Amino acid sequence: MKKRIFSGAQPTGQLHIGNYLGALKNWVALQEEYEAFYCIVNLHAITLPQAPATLKKATLDLARIYLAAGIDPERSTIFIQSDVPEHAELTWVLSCISRMGELERMTQFKDKGKGNTERAGVGLFTYPVLMASDILLYQTDLVPVGQDQKQHLELTRDLAERFNRDFGETFKVPEPYIPKIGASIKSLQDPEKKMSKSDENLNGSIFLLDDPDTITKKIKRAVTDSGTTVEFDETRPAISNLLTIFQLTTDRSPEECVAHFEGKGYGHFKTELAEVVVEFLRPFQERVRQYDDESLRSILSSGAEKARSIASETLRAVYSKTGIA
Ligand code: TRP
Repeated sequence: MKKRIFSGAQPTGQLHIGNYLGALKNWVALQEEYEAFYCIVNLHAITLPQAPATLKKATLDLARIYLAAGIDPERSTIFIQSDVPEHAELTWVLSCISRMGELERMTQFKDKGKGNTERAGVGLFTYPVLMASDILLYQTDLVPVGQDQKQHLELTRDLAERFNRDFGETFKVPEPYIPKIGASIKSLQDPEKKMSKSDENLNGSIFLLDDPDTITKKIKRAVTDSGTTVEFDETRPAISNLLTIFQLTTDRSPEECVAHFEGKGYGHFKTELAEVVVEFLRPFQERVRQYDDESLRSILSSGAEKARSIASETLRAVYSKTGIA
């Protein structure tokens, strides 16, 4: 039996090359070895205000991006969270065994609530319980997540253990899966910060759907450090970040990349990097355009059906053990 993995992303903002190189690329590789569930977590998205039409479109666009990145619906289950009502139902039960104190400790709540917990939405507060439900409904073995989600995964494990202890063995306790070569791509405008979907400065990110002109401009405008040589150098985070993008989009070793630019300056490097990124994204963007709404809906509805068959079994056990049904 293959081990099961579960991961998800919110349909908010636009996905950028950092999301691709840091997460999606791994998701694609993992489907060889694992039974994978990849979820578009639209219920998580509304923990912050979303324009309804934008959310609807972004949900389908994210599905297109998963598929274009190489997630294969024949092997992996791709689905929209709200299509499986068990996610919301299990959230209620788990929120009844969650403690105020443990949720108050979540750093993402403090960040997103901008320190003003009086005004923060209750959904933002219980966000991690919904995430725990996502994971636990599928009896997940491993959860590929970035560093920023590790605390939520710890909570998921605590809730699973608590429920199992109080009501009898029900949930598998999942482990985090931290990829061996985790790529953390930084903003093109500030190499101290992660490239982020929510960054107000759009020049900091190369979005997966940016056109060639925009990509080239953003790379030309990227900040660089003092110095002239193109090398990986901890004291020069800006050039190191650009070189990492070059390395991962060309699938070369770090040494090869450095050798390739020996004797060349920043200007030459940026021109070549822009070309490489444009060519890297071109076939991807063509695949994104290939999926019309009709074929997408059919993939997503089979995904939801498959997901539901597992989720409903887990929820039935939970209801039975808690005396609900
Ligand atoms: N909270 C995750 C994020 O913002 C998204 C997410 C929701 C998720 N449910 C999940 C990730 C379950 C992994 C597993 O990135």
